[in-house]
Amino acid sequence: MVKKWGIEVSEEWAERELIFYVNGEWVPESQATISVLDQGLLYGFGVFEGIRIYGGGIFKLNEHIDRLYRSAQSAQINIPLTKADLAEICREFVVRNNMKEGHLRIIVTPGKGYTWDTFGSPTTAVFGIPIGRMFESGHEGIRLKTSSLRRTPPECLDPRMKTLNYFNNKLHKMEALAAGVDDAIVLDMRGFVSELSGANFFITKDKTLLTSRKQFILEGVTRATVFELAKKEGFQVIEEDLTLYDVYTADEAFTCGSGYEITPVVEVDGRKIGDGKPGPITSKLQKLYVELTHTEGPWFTKAL
Ligand SMILES: Cc1ncc(COP(=O)(O)O)c(C=O)c1O
Repeated sequence: MVKKWGIEVSEEWAERELIFYVNGEWVPESQATISVLDQGLLYGFGVFEGIRIYGGGIFKLNEHIDRLYRSAQSAQINIPLTKADLAEICREFVVRNNMKEGHLRIIVTPGKGYTWDTFGSPTTAVFGIPIGRMFESGHEGIRLKTSSLRRTPPECLDPRMKTLNYFNNKLHKMEALAAGVDDAIVLDMRGFVSELSGANFFITKDKTLLTSRKQFILEGVTRATVFELAKKEGFQVIEEDLTLYDVYTADEAFTCGSGYEITPVVEVDGRKIGDGKPGPITSKLQKLYVELTHTEGPWFTKAL
């Protein structure tokens, strides 16, 4: 293994330069640049998606592209491609880089602008890196702490929009890492649990799954997958306002997202959740998720 892109990757990637898509061109990573005048940089104004590549296929690509278009529509950002064209570019990214396991991002901004006004054409980029699973199934679980900062409320920026403005999220994550835990639980402005810095959050109580209401969080593609898997297994899923007391007294807790996949949470604010080990419902869902991401089906856009 070697260190590249800030993570451990296998030797094969050490010398290889990836090929990225930027505004209609395929260019080597070292030449994949965007102007300093881009509104994504100047104002954090843009939308994006983070998507997993498993076994040379793209997991739930259409669901991610749909959310990208909803975020863009809400921000009045014009995506200069059809959904089908964008999906094809993502597929081509996997093929050009022969990337069997990885993570890809789609970014769209309105393009350049020094003042509030934009000029020129929108910026579209598709790129990624070859990361594997964040945690193997059977991982002993992660530890969280409640962030001292609250999540940006819907009154300021609708959390369902996946925007390039991750300032708030970065601060939650940095605070958690500085405190020696893995991530933060973030409360909304009403004091209820919203989600983590970059993933959704569930608890279980008496064999029922509980998770925050969609109005106060990013409505995750993985969260929707958890709903499907849980229902298939006969578990009820309830979306409701959750307090920290609910979390501290839960039977089990886990987080989910394209990056985090399904990861058990075993400690919050120094309190063990359940018996401090991944619980049976979490382990079951984790196993089903790993299976789903290893099985061909309509949820995959095959590339390799
Ligand atoms: C703030 C936030 N919440 C939740 C998620 C999980 O969303 P998804 O499952 O669509 O990856 C993410 C993923 O990037 C995120 O950034």
